[in-house]
Amino acid sequence: MPSAEMGTRLSMGRDTFGRQGFGAMRLRDGTGDGTDRDPVAVVHAALDAGVTMVDTADAYQNEELVGRAIRGRRDEVLLASKFGLVWRGELAGGFDVRADRAYVRQASEASLRRLGVDVIDLYYLHHRSERVPIEETVEAMAELVNQGKIRALGLSNVTADDLRRAHAVHPIAALQEQWSLVQSDIEQELLPTVADLGVAVVAHSPNGHGLLHQPPSTADEQIASGLRAALGEIASRHDTTSGQVALAWVHHRQQVHGVPVIPIPGTTSVRHLRSNVAAADLRLPDDDLRRLDTLRAAS
Ligand SMILES: NC(=O)c1ccc[n+]([C@@H]2O[C@H](COP(=O)([O-])OP(=O)(O)OC[C@H]3O[C@@H](n4cnc5c(N)ncnc54)[C@H](OP(=O)(O)O)[C@@H]3O)[C@@H](O)[C@H]2O)c1
Repeated sequence: MPSAEMGTRLSMGRDTFGRQGFGAMRLRDGTGDGTDRDPVAVVHAALDAGVTMVDTADAYQNEELVGRAIRGRRDEVLLASKFGLVWRGELAGGFDVRADRAYVRQASEASLRRLGVDVIDLYYLHHRSERVPIEETVEAMAELVNQGKIRALGLSNVTADDLRRAHAVHPIAALQEQWSLVQSDIEQELLPTVADLGVAVVAHSPNGHGLLHQPPSTADEQIASGLRAALGEIASRHDTTSGQVALAWVHHRQQVHGVPVIPIPGTTSVRHLRSNVAAADLRLPDDDLRRLDTLRAAS
């Protein structure tokens, strides 16, 4: 889809984003140990598989790499980046948030330069600020839209109140929050507002940062043993993997909640990328979905 067309359609629904995006956070230069782990090959495999949304951030420190990977294929990509998270090891939590007007301008210029593009299709505030009112941040982002430097606005790690106040300043196309079988707080806290405003949800870390890809026999305290066993049993019945079942569950939340949900699994492997894309086509019977819901709630 040509980028210009994407721009006019970004606020119009899930079709614009595709069924599944690609999370580029873990891609690093110099980590390729063969074709399967070559970061550029992973991005190309995503585009070849029909994935359009590629998600990065200035905080991931790989925008040059992502820009290089999409060069020559820019018109196939819905390019998403983020600003506002600034790593500062000396602070509690390890990062600071910058969301003031001047910083929005400065960060966007730097991202455009590193990515090597004229426009970013979807530009997120990466984390809410305790100091800067969200209205100021969104006004500054809206100026970037008027200048043709970004096409649509997104928010991440915000509250329902932030989302509503931001949306009153300028339409918010996407909310990016963690959503998986091991982290589904979004369903209680944010979804009513999301549904009310018609915002799409970009579900990050849909495999629990990789935990849900581990085999059923894995013993750890972060995933209840019942959930892990159920994932393994459902996967073997459908001739698939636990990770694919867990990802299919996130895809299915769109039907449950009636809002567009676009998972963005992250991987550094071409093989894993293809497996994740295939999970979007996995249709789980209601019984299996109910069982996963029950176990999720209990864990
Ligand atoms: N907005 C935010 O605050 C925020 C925070 C975190 C992440 N994100 C976004 O969400 C994206 C995904 O997050 P994430 O990477 O933390 O979590 P994830 O997608 O839940 O899990 C990624 C982990 O799972 C492994 N994996 C992926 N597919 C696999 C497969 N098919 N088989 C086996 N292992 C597999 C990956 O290892 P391999 O590399 O070996 O495949 C990696 O260790 C990020 O790239 C980023 O764009 C956003």
